[in-house]
Amino acid sequence: MSSLNDKLAAALSSREKRHIRRRLPVSASPVLPSADFTSNDYLSLATSSTLRTAFQHALSTAPQILGSGGSRLLVPTPAHLALESFDANVAFFSAIPQPGDVILYDEHIHASVHDGMGASRVDSSSLIKFPHNSVVALKRSLRKLLHERDDLRDGRASAFVAVESLYSMDGTFAPLREIVQCVEELLPKRNGYVIVDEAHATGIYGPQGRGMVAALGLEGRVLARLHTFGKALAGSGAAILTTELIRDYLLNYARPLIYTTTLTYANIIAVECAFDMLEDGSAEVTQLALHLLDLSRYFLELLRPHLQSAPPELLCLPGHLRADDHKDPTNTPSDASFPPPTPIIPLLTPHPHSLAAHLASLSQPLFTKAITWPTVPVGTSRVRVCLHAGHTRDDAWLAREREVARQWLDVAEGEGVGAWMESKL
Ligand SMILES: Cc1ncc(COP(=O)(O)O)c(C=O)c1O
Repeated sequence: MSSLNDKLAAALSSREKRHIRRRLPVSASPVLPSADFTSNDYLSLATSSTLRTAFQHALSTAPQILGSGGSRLLVPTPAHLALESFDANVAFFSAIPQPGDVILYDEHIHASVHDGMGASRVDSSSLIKFPHNSVVALKRSLRKLLHERDDLRDGRASAFVAVESLYSMDGTFAPLREIVQCVEELLPKRNGYVIVDEAHATGIYGPQGRGMVAALGLEGRVLARLHTFGKALAGSGAAILTTELIRDYLLNYARPLIYTTTLTYANIIAVECAFDMLEDGSAEVTQLALHLLDLSRYFLELLRPHLQSAPPELLCLPGHLRADDHKDPTNTPSDASFPPPTPIIPLLTPHPHSLAAHLASLSQPLFTKAITWPTVPVGTSRVRVCLHAGHTRDDAWLAREREVARQWLDVAEGEGVGAWMESKL
């Protein structure tokens, strides 16, 4: 074997030994929507007959439906005007922050933001991580920077703050109001900019599924919002909602946008059909989103009492989902609905592969995702359950009855967990 092959094989084998090697999922038959607790098809639009019919009709009347044939800069068609296909986070963070600027980012921010920051012209010493959702820590870092740097104090340099509105691995919501307020207060020269990745909130929260920024009325106070179409909207691609100036700058400087073949026409048409469903606020999608939130609340209520009796080192919910009193007591009455229910429910366990394999092997299989380092921090491996609007309360039976709960909790033979579970249930 060549030296390169040796090195690559050794890296994979090391991952294999540590049970963190990634593989493509294999399944002999298609996963039924009711058994899919893995995908981010939150509104179940990927299997919606309404969307399918609208899409088929739109395809049959569209002038072009296949490949775009080139980069967005080469494709003059109106179909692509509002929607783009590119790695939006990489494009934004690699292009917009300028030399001398700083980026403060939540420690759980998505990998694509890291890729963008790594490719940016910001010095690596000015990429500053703050603990997950900690406004106190963000404030502390900003104060320190302001103390040290007069270019930030007088507005010559900018500070960007990168967060997700709903975190994909944790199901936590960023305290967006507090973050925006903190940035505005500490940087009164208006050189502080909040960027919100709404990938997992798009379609579900806010009026017509416009996301958490819109739900909280913060549209005018964040610099950019990233909405992806690959999750609740059953398509692919992304849009960045931002200023005209930033849009034009991205068109000139964002390499992932300039040098990537843009979306196919069919993809644009599919996303437009999904948007039509969202915009028609009276209808189906609103009901789907409401059902999803109701299901998310219900599922947690069922799960909590069962997990309370499990040894937390073997299986537990993360802190923010453990009790119903997780709402911030300092919230004003108008904030009573924050945080809303989350369809992303992590089950923390040191045996995520065993638990996921066990769930998939049930007579009525449940497909979930085992998630380990490096996707999540060391010591926080988990099985992630993603609920969808297409699930019913019967699918969310996780803790509905003793027998089924036992199956979920019976993590693995030979790891001592099974015996413990048996004695408890
Ligand atoms: C938080 C977040 N941002 C951005 C993306 C990128 O979205 P896409 O895969 O549609 O490019 C993802 C995808 O997993 C994500 O979870």
